[in-house]
Amino acid sequence: MIEIVNVNKKWGIGLGGDLLINIPGDMKFFRETTKDAVVIMGSTTLDSFPGMAPLKNRTNIVLIDDENKIRPEALAAAKADKEAGLLTELIYVRSLSEAVLAGQDYEKKGRKVFVIGGATVYRIMLPYCDTCMVTVNDCEKEADTYYPDLETSPEWEMTEQGPENEWNGVKYKFTTWKRI
Ligand SMILES: NC(=O)c1ccc[n+]([C@@H]2O[C@H](COP(=O)([O-])OP(=O)(O)OC[C@H]3O[C@@H](n4cnc5c(N)ncnc54)[C@H](OP(=O)(O)O)[C@@H]3O)[C@@H](O)[C@H]2O)c1
Repeated sequence: MIEIVNVNKKWGIGLGGDLLINIPGDMKFFRETTKDAVVIMGSTTLDSFPGMAPLKNRTNIVLIDDENKIRPEALAAAKADKEAGLLTELIYVRSLSEAVLAGQDYEKKGRKVFVIGGATVYRIMLPYCDTCMVTVNDCEKEADTYYPDLETSPEWEMTEQGPENEWNGVKYKFTTWKRI
């Protein structure tokens, strides 16, 4: 499984429940990379999407502790997509082991599986992933939520990095990390 994340140079990923920064070029990369794939996320991340709607044409696996947090809006959006002929699916899982088994099962069936956040789900799913696609930006905002620092981890090495891009004065580049 692959984690896909946008971090600043201190591995900050969020502030006050939102993304630290929203870079259109990175959003496009995210949409293209995860197109038709399986995406695994925490319930907070699903809640942060517009209309709490799952990502279209993807199999959305959502980790949830508390069944009361299943959102009727999310179920209705998934149903409406299906009725419109889209391939959107929404599946709730109740534990880390269920999420891992579901992800591994989809991989066996040939689907790409991406872990898309947030902080909690990145951290608990990381041991089950062999690749991280990390967009690094130089936004200086102080974050309150962080991704594990792969640079100081003996288990990870950067295997690819793209050229530097710039948007609104913020520099960013796409990098790939592999488990050693
Ligand atoms: N920079 C990026 O690329 C990126 C991407 C995504 C998110 N983010 C940021 O990450 C932050 C949100 O992170 P977060 O940690 O608060 O939220 P999260 O990981 O999206 O969701 C946490 C929720 O997932 C459920 N959950 C987690 N572990 C579970 C387990 N083992 N079993 C069952 N359910 C489990 C729980 O749901 P319930 O309590 O609801 O039951 C928990 O409250 C935001 O600031 C967001 O903007 C950044």
